[in-house]
Formats: sequence, structure tokens, C-alpha cells
Amino acid sequence: MAVTISIGSGKGGTGKTMILCNLALLLAKKGLKVCLVDLDIGGADAHLLFGLFEPKFSLTDFLTRRVESMDDALHTFYSFNGLQLLPGTGSTLQTANMTYQEKQRLLKGLSSLDADVVLIDVGAGTSYHSLDFFMYADVQICVTMPEPTSIMDFYNFLQLATIRKVLGSFLSNSQVSLLLKKQNFSSLSDVFALAENTEEGAREKAQQALHGFNPLLIINRNTENGKVNKAKLKKLVAKYLGIDIPSLGEIPEDLAINEALRAYMPVCELLPDAPSAVALMNIADKVEKIIELFQHYSNQPDIIERD
Ligand SMILES: Nc1ncnc2c1ncn2[C@@H]1O[C@H](COP(=O)(O)OP(=O)(O)O)[C@@H](O)[C@H]1O
Ligand SMILES: [Mg+2]
Repeated sequence: MAVTISIGSGKGGTGKTMILCNLALLLAKKGLKVCLVDLDIGGADAHLLFGLFEPKFSLTDFLTRRVESMDDALHTFYSFNGLQLLPGTGSTLQTANMTYQEKQRLLKGLSSLDADVVLIDVGAGTSYHSLDFFMYADVQICVTMPEPTSIMDFYNFLQLATIRKVLGSFLSNSQVSLLLKKQNFSSLSDVFALAENTEEGAREKAQQALHGFNPLLIINRNTENGKVNKAKLKKLVAKYLGIDIPSLGEIPEDLAINEALRAYMPVCELLPDAPSAVALMNIADKVEKIIELFQHYSNQPDIIERD
């Protein structure tokens, strides 16, 4: 079975696609069978980063059943170590308003992919689709930039993801679930408080649901003057969301990334000595270890730096 890794953040423009495309390539170079899936509905552009302008098939073809199996919609980049891509799709009603059945078929398609690792670009936003595809993966990566507004979006995204996870932990017909469904929560502590007031032991159950949810943090576009206080951010997330977010790495602001974008090539291929490429390679080394350990223990290991 493939290890699935998703990448998310509150808003677009944080570098998710750039990071995931480079990771996909670096993992393929290490000999892993990699499949990159572009679920960024409306903003799909991973194919462009590899210079593929008109994909023969895309996610739409799978969703509209023009192809029955997800495998048939994959594009193989022989010049990029056999890396495979399910190209994304423009915004259509079909995809934006996916039905429950379509979503189940998509998830089944993802789990049936013949790969060592499936990387999922869930795109921006906090729609239920984005959150569910983000949470579906075995391992989550979340990205923020150093600006306070980006950190706010990042925190908001993680808060909604944790709320969705907690709500999903209650059986759909339980008393707590029925009550929780009627509410529109914006804070995790409100969910815990209401759960506790409705049913004895519900708070513990809600907290238990977050056990093992440890999204890995990447800070992108770091500059000398604009660094995130990581310890403070982690403390805030631990205090209010009850989760630990281990660091996966930091990527500096780097003009090489735009140069690579204009050349339609991942920066790690075009300019491997660029500071951003070196940072991405360090991140890929850590991700490779996580995949190896995940395959062996199916538990997120404690090998990433904690500070
Ligand atoms: N570390 C960086 N340094 C310079 N430019 C970057 C960096 N990371 C991303 N970018 C640029 O920011 C833009 C948004 O990146 P993208 O990967 O498309 O974000 P997202 O997928 O989160 O919307 C792109 O033009 C990309 O080249
Ligand atoms: Mg993107």
C-alpha cells in the first residue's frame, strides 16, 4: 500500500505546489514509485511546473467516467524518473460540487494507485472537500509563510481541520453528533465544551480523536528580516488545538524558484545548488525516512527535529 502525504494551508500562494512538485521529483530520484495527484480544484497547475501544457487526461476524466480507472488518467514523465501525475482540473460544477458517491470513488481511486508514495495537493481553502482530502492522507504537511496574515490563515486552517476531525469521531447518530452538527464552530474549545455538556466522557473522546494528528510544518519564503518564532507558534497550536506540529524544514525566499517556474522545471532539477533547492533536498531526505518508517510501523515516527 502506498503511503499518502497531503499538503495544505489556509490560502493559496504559500508554495504548496512548488514544494510538492519538487518533493515528488526528489523522491522519484531516490528510486521510489511516486504519484502526484493534483486535487486543487480550480487552481490546478502542477502539470505546468513539469512543462506539461495539455495533459491528455485529467481528474475531470476520472470524475466524469471518461476513464474508469484512475491509473488510466495518469501521465508518466519519463524524463523525470518515471514520476506519475494525475493532472488537476479547472473549476467545474462537476468537481466543485462533488457528490458523496463521487468523493468515495475518488478516495477509492487514490487508495488503489500502484505507487510507494502518493502526494496530494489539496489546494487552498477550507471547504469540506479540501479538509477531508487533507485529513485522508497518512501524513500531512502544512505550509505557512512568515507574514502574520499567512500565520493567521495557517492557524485557521489547522483549527478547522482539527474541528472536522473531532466531529468525524462521533458516530453520525449519536446524541453528541446530532447536536454538534447543528452548530457552526469556529473554535475547538467550543466543540470540547459542548461535547462535554452533552455526554459524559465525550470530551476525552474528542481529544482522543486528535491523537496521532501531527501535521509537519514547513515555513516557506523565509527572509533574514522575516523569520517565524517557531517555538511560539508551536506553543500556540499545542495550547489551543492540542496538537504537536513537528518541523519539517524552512525554505528561504529565492529568485531561483521563479527562474525554474519560467523554465517549467522544478528548481531542484534546474538549479540544484540554489539555497531553496538545498532546503527542499533536506526536506525530501526527512520525508523519505518518514515513508520508510511509516511502511514499517504505520505510525508517525519521532525522527524529526523538535524545538
Ligand atoms: N521560497 C520561494 N521563493 C520565491 N518564490 C516562491 C517561493 N515559494 C513559492 N514561490 C512563488 O510563489 C508563487 C506561489 O507558489 P505556489 O507553489 O503556486 O503556491 P500554492 O500552490 O500554495 O498556491 C509561485 O509564483 C512560486 O514560484
Ligand atoms: Mg497550488
